[in-house]
Amino acid sequence: MKKLTDVLELVNLRDNGVNKMRWNILRVLQQTGDCVSGQVLSKELGISRVSIWKHICNLRRDGYVIQASARGYRLVSSPDLLLPGEFHHWGQKIHHFGETGSTMNIAKELAQKGAEEKTIVIAESQTHGRGRLGREWLSPGGGIYVTLILRPEISPAYAPRINLMASVAVARAIRKLFSLNAELKWPNDVLIGGRKVCGILAEMEAEVDAINFVNLGIGINANTAVSHYEKGATSLKEELGREVSRKEFLNSVLREINEQQVLLTKSDLLEGWKSLSATLGREVRIATPGEEIIGRAVDIDASGALILKREDGSLSSAISGDCIHLS
Ligand code: BTN
Repeated sequence: MKKLTDVLELVNLRDNGVNKMRWNILRVLQQTGDCVSGQVLSKELGISRVSIWKHICNLRRDGYVIQASARGYRLVSSPDLLLPGEFHHWGQKIHHFGETGSTMNIAKELAQKGAEEKTIVIAESQTHGRGRLGREWLSPGGGIYVTLILRPEISPAYAPRINLMASVAVARAIRKLFSLNAELKWPNDVLIGGRKVCGILAEMEAEVDAINFVNLGIGINANTAVSHYEKGATSLKEELGREVSRKEFLNSVLREINEQQVLLTKSDLLEGWKSLSATLGREVRIATPGEEIIGRAVDIDASGALILKREDGSLSSAISGDCIHLS
C-alpha cells in the first residue's frame, strides 16, 4: 500500500476547480487502497471536511462505492464508466458525457472557444455518431467514443499523418493488452482478422500554412455485439469471448498516443504504420467521390497518401477515399 504523502505528491493540484478536487480525492482513495480520514484529506488538500464530504457524495452519485467509517473513507468499487478520475496520467481537461449526439460536435465548439491541446471529450454512447465519408457511426453503450483536440505545429499538408498516428496507437494498445493481431487498413481503420474494430475520423480547421486544431475522433468496438448489426465489423469482446476493461484499454490507447505523437514529423511513424499494415502488398480499389483507382498498394508517402501501382505499371497516389481490399 502506498503512503498518503507519496500519493499526494502525484496528485495534480494545479487546477483547484470543483471537479478537479473531486478527482484528486478519488485518486488518493484509489492509490492508498485503504481508509483515509476526513481530517487528513482536508489538511492535505486544503479544503474543509464539509467540502470533502460533498465531494464524496458527488463521487457516490457517479457510481463509486465509498465506505465511510470511524477510520475514514475507503473506495470499495468503481463504476464501469470512462469518468475523468480514471485517466489521471492524461493531465488535461476531460469532458465526460453519459450520452451525447456526437463528441465531434462538442469538441469542435470547445476547440473554437480555445480549448487546450489534448482536451478530451468522452461519451458512453452517442445518438448521432459520425463516421468517415458522411456515414453514421453506431454508438451503443459498451463502446468507446472519444474526441481529442490536438493543435500540432505541422503543415496542414501533413495532417493525414495524425490519422496514421492514431491508428498505430490503437493497434499497438490492442496488441499489447490483448495479444490480438491488430492490423491497419489505409487510411485509418484498425482491423482484427480482417474485420473493423476501430474507426478514426479527423476534422481540421486550418489556415494555408498552419493548423488551428485537428479533432481526432476515435470509435472503438469494445464490449459491443457489433457483428450482429454491422457486416465486416468485430469488437474486442467478440474476439476475446469476454468483456474488457474499457478504462484500462483507453488508458493504454492514450499512453500510446502520447508516445506516437512525438513521431508525427518523423519517418518512424510511417515505418510503424507500414509494419502494421494489412493494405500494403494487396490489390485494392480506392473510391473517391470523383474517381476510382485500382492497383497494388505498394507504399505510403511522407504525407500519408497511398501509392498504387496500376496494371500498366504506372504509379498513382490516393490522398483520401474508401479503400477496398480486393486480394
Ligand atoms: C469511421 O468511419 O471509420 C470513423 C468513425 C469515427 C467514430 C468516432 S466515435 C467518437 C467520435 N464521435 C463521432 O461522432 N465520431 C467519432
